[in-house]
Order: sequence, then C-alpha cells, then structure tokens
Amino acid sequence: MKILHLISSPRGNASVSRKLGNAIVERLQAKEPDSVVTVHDLTSTPFPHLEEVHLTSFFTPAEQHSPELATAVKHSDEAIAELMDADVIVIDAPMYNFSIPSTLKAWLDHIIRAGKTFRYSEKGPEGLVHNKKVYLAISSGGIYSEGPMKGYDFIEPYLKSVFGMLGVSDVTVYRAEGLKVPGVLEHAFEKAVESIAV
Ligand SMILES: Cc1cc2nc3c(=O)[nH]c(=O)nc-3n(C[C@H](O)[C@H](O)[C@H](O)COP(=O)(O)O)c2cc1C
Repeated sequence: MKILHLISSPRGNASVSRKLGNAIVERLQAKEPDSVVTVHDLTSTPFPHLEEVHLTSFFTPAEQHSPELATAVKHSDEAIAELMDADVIVIDAPMYNFSIPSTLKAWLDHIIRAGKTFRYSEKGPEGLVHNKKVYLAISSGGIYSEGPMKGYDFIEPYLKSVFGMLGVSDVTVYRAEGLKVPGVLEHAFEKAVESIAV
C-alpha cells in the first residue's frame, strides 16, 4: 500500500493535525507493514497561487509548451503523479477561519485539472481518480462535529465535495476538536486518536 501524507500546518511537531495524521498513518502501517509512506509538507515548499501562466499551461497541450509553460505546469504534473501513485491519502487539515489553510487550497488548485483528474461530460464533471481512500485529520479550536457551530465547518463538506468530483467517495474524517475549549481541550487529542478505526 502506498500512503501519501499531506501536511498543511506550519507548526511542525506542535501541530495537532499533524500528530493526528501521523497516528492514522501509524495505524495503516500496523495493518500493512509493507506500506510505503511519502510525506509531503505543503508548508515547506508551498504550491504557488494560480497565475495566468499556470492556467495557460493547464489549457495548452504539452507538445506546444514553451519553456516558460513547461516550467509552470511542473508543480501540477508532479503533484498529480504523486496523487495518482498513492492508494491512500492522509490529509492534515487544521481549521483556519472555518476552512482549510491556503497551502492546502493551493495544492488542490494544482491537482484538480480538467483532462487529468476529472473530465467534462454530458452529465457534468466526471472524476478520473479511482480506487483511492482519503483520511482527513482535522484539528480545530472549536467543536464542529455537532452543536451550534456545525454549520460553520467548511472543511469536511468542501473536501468531500472536491474529492467526490475527482471520483473519490471513500473519505473518512477524524477530528481533534475543541482544542481551545476548557474542559474539552485536555482530552481532545486522545479522544481523536481513540476514534481511529482503520
Ligand atoms: C490562522 C488561524 C485561524 C484559525 N481559525 C479557526 C477557526 O475558524 N475555528 C476554530 O475552531 N479554530 C481556528 N483556529 C484554531 C486552530 O484550528 C487550532 O489551533 C488547530 O489546532 C490548528 O491546527 P494545528 O495544531 O495542526 O496547527 C485557527 C488558528 C489559526 C492559527
């Protein structure tokens, strides 16, 4: 099994989403000891925001790429190859302003590509990413799995929507939540790790 572990918190070893992502990866490895893990820290070499040159490179056939377009498309091509090569993708997703960090959004902007990871069909977009499983390791200061803030969580519905569009419907969510809520924060991480069932 090939596991791709994406990190999107810049907080290194202090990151709760990273620790939760690591715990998921460890469980997967315990189940399949021959697993190969690729760790991609999206904060150490962030994907660029999409500029005109990137969009032009996406929509120009590769054989017509100028040196500039060939350089621009490399981030996307390499990220898509890494994604396609994996069987399982573990994504650390700290909540930033009710959504994902921009580093993770930038990665998504480079891997969601017409003709590569989805195609347009008569029935709307059709996913081209098959036979993959995604685990989300979400960390947040508040509580979003239930209660009054549930509707403010734009991580789970968003990531499930984009991966669904790409053809990946097997998405499992684990949450370390309430990390800023006294009375909850003390056990939030342990509770999240205990909930892991792989
Ligand atoms: C820039 C920023 C924005 C945040 N926005 C939210 C938020 O909207 N809701 C929330 O519950 N927590 C929010 N938090 C708290 C983080 O989700 C929480 O500290 C989490 O543990 C961060 O993940 P990490 O430990 O993996 O870095 C925010 C933290 C930062 C730094």
